[in-house]
This record gives sequence, structure tokens and C-alpha cells, in this order.
Amino acid sequence: MTLLTVWADDEPGTPLRRTEDGEKIAAELGQLGVRFERWPVVEELPAEPTSEQVLAAYADQVARVVDTEGYVLVDALSMNPTVDPEQAAQARRKFLAEHTHDDAEDRYFARGAGAFYLHIDRNVYAVLCEAGDLLSVPADTRHWFDMGTRPDWVAIRFFHEEDGWVGNFTGSGIAATFPDFDTLVATR
Ligand SMILES: [Fe+2]
Repeated sequence: MTLLTVWADDEPGTPLRRTEDGEKIAAELGQLGVRFERWPVVEELPAEPTSEQVLAAYADQVARVVDTEGYVLVDALSMNPTVDPEQAAQARRKFLAEHTHDDAEDRYFARGAGAFYLHIDRNVYAVLCEAGDLLSVPADTRHWFDMGTRPDWVAIRFFHEEDGWVGNFTGSGIAATFPDFDTLVATR
């Protein structure tokens, strides 16, 4: 199940709230302008699916999001736990520090898990996403993403433009002060 943990941004040791209730998570994030949906998981994907296979499996839902949100590009990416550890660490580091994007960051997890940390006003909202979760981080929202030391996920990404996902790094060290993906998973 999805896990939402909320802290004050200067109190990483003291969670204010923690819930695995999907409706509460959608409601709390919705108040912040962050879309969160749960889709039925398609179990029949191959072990290492191509982007086309993932998009075909979720064709109806993807078409709805594209129509509603005006996306022009959609693809699916996979990270496999058997990948070379150095390659995995490199992929993990890429968005592990706080940053923003000029575009929204919509991601649907078809398999596996990853944690988005949203830094909104004076709070940090960690959304540990699992298969079936769609999270949309609005443009210009401070956030970071942790896929853990053994990245394992298949995710659909949506773009309004080719370079919409360039990271604008804030230079803040806040990400390192909060429990990481592996720690969140271990608390389940
Ligand atoms: Fe990002």
C-alpha cells in the first residue's frame, strides 16, 4: 500500500502524520493541488516490458490523462534490481536532491515502488508510491525522488514538452535530512 508521511520541514525526526489510507492520501494531496489516483494494476506485463507494452496495457487510463492534462509525450521506463550497482546508484543520485521542474511531473507506477518527497510551504510530504499509483507533482514544486539502493520499478511518464523534466536544483541539503526510501520501506 501507498504510504504518506508528513513532517515539518525542520523536524525530520518527528512525523506529524502517517497514513496508508488511499482516500485520505488523495484528499490531503488534493488540498495541495497534487493529483493522486489509484488505477487497477495490469498483472500480465512481461518481466522486462518495453515502453510500448506498458503503454498498451494502460491505454485507456493514459489516453484519459493525456486528454485531461494536455500531455504531448508519454513513455514508460524500467529500473531492474539486477542492474549494475554503480549504474543503479547513478540513476538514484540524479533526482535525489531537492529540485523543481518547469513542467508537472506525472508518474504512474505499473510495478515496484519509489518515493516522492514534496516540500510545500513548511512541510515535507513523502509519498511512497507502489504499483497502481499515479502521482502528479505540479510544476515549480520543490521535491526530490528516491528509488532506493535497489531500484525496482516500471513507470509511465507524461510530458508537455521534450525538455520539461530538466531539474532546477535548489542547492538545499534538505533531502539528506529525511528518512530515505529504504528507511520508509523498512518501517512498513
Ligand atoms: Fe523531479
